[in-house]
Amino acid sequence: MKPVELKKGIYWVGAVDWNIRDFHGYSTYEGTTYNSYLLVDDKITLFDTVKKEHFPALMDNISQIVDPSKIDYLVVNHVETDHSGSLPQFLQVAKPETIYCSDMGQKALMGHFHGNAWPLKVAQNGETVNLGKTKVQFLETRMLHWPDSMFSYLPDYKLLISNDAFGEHLASSGRFDDEVDMNLIMEQAVKYYANILWPYSGLVQKLITTIKELKLDFDMIAPDHGVIWRKNLNTIISAYERWSSYQAGNKAVVVYDTMWKSTEEMARYITQGLTDAGVKDVHQMRLGVSHRSDVIAQLLEAKAIIAGSSTLNNNMLPSMADYLTYMKGLRPGQKIGAAFGSYGWSGEAVKDITAMLKAANIELKGENVRHQWVPDKAALANSYKLGLDIGKEVVAACKG
Ligand code: FEO
Repeated sequence: MKPVELKKGIYWVGAVDWNIRDFHGYSTYEGTTYNSYLLVDDKITLFDTVKKEHFPALMDNISQIVDPSKIDYLVVNHVETDHSGSLPQFLQVAKPETIYCSDMGQKALMGHFHGNAWPLKVAQNGETVNLGKTKVQFLETRMLHWPDSMFSYLPDYKLLISNDAFGEHLASSGRFDDEVDMNLIMEQAVKYYANILWPYSGLVQKLITTIKELKLDFDMIAPDHGVIWRKNLNTIISAYERWSSYQAGNKAVVVYDTMWKSTEEMARYITQGLTDAGVKDVHQMRLGVSHRSDVIAQLLEAKAIIAGSSTLNNNMLPSMADYLTYMKGLRPGQKIGAAFGSYGWSGEAVKDITAMLKAANIELKGENVRHQWVPDKAALANSYKLGLDIGKEVVAACKG
């Protein structure tokens, strides 16, 4: 995609990755973008580079505006290699006099690239650098979502370059939020938040407060993935406020895997119980069919998770172990849950799932259902009752 002018003198010069489907274990069915921004002032400044294999697109775009060798400053808002991977190639073409990064960014850049001769300069939190007619202010956003992360605020442009925050994995021909279907954008934005930012929700809350306290004046947010927000800023900011506050809706997720469909039969009755209790939005998701990152996206605004697995060789199924490990790392807060599963002889899965739910700080409710061989009427009735009991808790929590 060719360069796109955001405002007079500042351009999107990044790359669209239409084909990526796995982003370090996160399913990206809609591809992604690696956004890079070029500001033409007395000091020509590039904000972030792109993933290594997309370097030709970056160079192609920059070259349509300026000679890349004329770039004076490079700002590295984030060192993760989807943004910095092409840095070594870039520095063979461009010779910026200064590379701005955060304190932790400097350490991460050295750790990644060992560029001892690079002209790194640590940008202090709040530091402003003059670029000519305009200026940039750096805002440290440590752990959103890496220690090195920072924002670049361009007050003269009323523009906030927000790195990973407010982004989504979405490849599109339109660069702005008003050029792409908003339902699609928000579907990807919630998935992005759940899979990338959820563990840092407390810091997201602080960040939004800080932005308000500093009275930053911006009418455009330019993240490093997905669309640039110029119309629906309030929509994405209020979504971040909601997601980071752990508010749950009248929603539940039944996640499971099954060998010979017995556990699946139990899942079906649990789902019915939840629905009959009045839970408005129930997602029954079988691992192997549903990707872990899609289950997490549904879980973000759910109140309950009921997890089930057959027992295989004295363990839960590997897909469930994978999912629970992933979920625990994302630190879901303020949820309730239970476990279920069918087994042949040893039947450890339910106990092990329960331990993992506890380890993820999920409050256990209802009576787990654990059944040997194929569920009979009683086992299915117990499954239904588990769904009903948890469903009542969900409905009560939503009213509370
Ligand atoms: Fe888009 Fe944390 O990298």
